Amino acid sequence: MIPSRVWAISDIHIDYQENFDRLLEFSRRGHPADSLIIAGDATDRLDRLGDLFRELVGHFRHVLFVPGNHELWVRRSGHEDSLQKLKAIQTLCANTGVMMEPVLVGQYQKVWLVPLLSWYDDKDQPGHSLYVEKDYAEDRTDDMWGDFIHARWPVHMKQPLAEFFAQENAPYLEREYQHPVISFSHFLPRQDLIFHKPLGEAMALARKYDPLPEFNFSRVAGSQRIDEQVRRLGSTLHIYGHQHRNRVRQVKGVTYLSHCMGYPKERQRGHVSHEAVEPLCVWRDDTGFVL
Ligand SMILES: [Fe+2]
Ligand SMILES: [Fe+2]
Repeated sequence: MIPSRVWAISDIHIDYQENFDRLLEFSRRGHPADSLIIAGDATDRLDRLGDLFRELVGHFRHVLFVPGNHELWVRRSGHEDSLQKLKAIQTLCANTGVMMEPVLVGQYQKVWLVPLLSWYDDKDQPGHSLYVEKDYAEDRTDDMWGDFIHARWPVHMKQPLAEFFAQENAPYLEREYQHPVISFSHFLPRQDLIFHKPLGEAMALARKYDPLPEFNFSRVAGSQRIDEQVRRLGSTLHIYGHQHRNRVRQVKGVTYLSHCMGYPKERQRGHVSHEAVEPLCVWRDDTGFVL
């Protein structure tokens, strides 16, 4: 009997045809008992997202998705704002059979897959933000970050976006999960995951070698609200994306995994491994967690 497996990937950015082709090539190998998690940033084009979903659902038992920031851009969509686009994505998922809600998978062993909607807390939200000051450079992130131009939110939304998205997950947090949980979000749940070394060491290196000193990614990286939800769920594994820097790290009983496909040029430059063009197997129902 073939085991049922859970595969994960994020930041597939399928507007790069090479990325789209590699994911389809993997999918077409046949995974009828498997589940595929896509943790956001596929494309901002809803028609392309629909094409992707319709193709993938034919090859997997379950396909699960959470939108990233790119999905919520409205620069070339007919949507009035990003909230309206979020609703259109939820409808697209429902119509194509892609899941944005928890599902229990596996035959021998079982595991819950739990999607968490998310956004980032900027530096005006201390206590939630992942912000780290760069005291060696002028901050020009406001002029450089695509979401500040391409995403648009209704004027009546007064609460922080990260709080709004976190509240949307409330029904999933109230449930009892009798089996291990794999949760996933697009954005980063913890500040320490931004860096490849402990914070002091990472900042000392950044001071010398920062290739983009005026851009502060930590302002738009994620939110501590996500980690609070990961802990409430009791996740064994949390998958995230967004940074295009791939890591596996254990912190206080939770394994955090980032497996971004990223842009072709990032793979050429070695920022993202060439192996990340394919989803990673994170769990199988005969042997359990792979990581
Ligand atoms: Fe991305
Ligand atoms: Fe992203």
